[in-house]
Amino acid sequence: MGKTAVCPGSFDPVTLGHLDIITRGAGVFDRVIVAVLNNRSKKPLFSVEERVALIRETTAHLPNVEVDSFDGLLIDYVKNKQANAIIKGLRAVSDFEYELQMASINRKLDEDVETFFMMTNNHYSYLSSSIVKELAKYEASVSDLVPAPVEEALLRKFRN
Ligand code: PNS
Repeated sequence: MGKTAVCPGSFDPVTLGHLDIITRGAGVFDRVIVAVLNNRSKKPLFSVEERVALIRETTAHLPNVEVDSFDGLLIDYVKNKQANAIIKGLRAVSDFEYELQMASINRKLDEDVETFFMMTNNHYSYLSSSIVKELAKYEASVSDLVPAPVEEALLRKFRN
């Protein structure tokens, strides 16, 4: 059946840093499911449907990438999808502590699921969805930080 990895996140919105990780993951695994967390306790800028649609549009050229959303624990979603792995990007040492905690708890919940980390391309080491939203809010260009459909969606959000 091949190896399936889940690439989870908030993706509010998806950035070129995320796309770099998704693309590289799709080169290693047979199938990658990008899973958008439907986090009701946070107030996202984009609805989960908008976030899924933007990722679908920007990964349409990758035949082994699917996009979905999930609620609840990541490990339950991974098991439901019969996936073997979780893939995540690491930007800097500051990401490490939180990601180690997440990988450890997920391993405790199911030791058959491995978490794989990829070092983010150096171009995107400073990049985050929050920074993109902050820049777009004050009308600074984000054209080299996000794919074109995301830039357009940000312009529409902040124009309204
Ligand atoms: O893009 P983010 O916000 O860093 O992604 C975080 C995400 C979605 C990977 C993480 O919050 C997550 O896995 N949430 C689901 C709940 C869960 O399984 N938590 C770990 C056990 S407490």
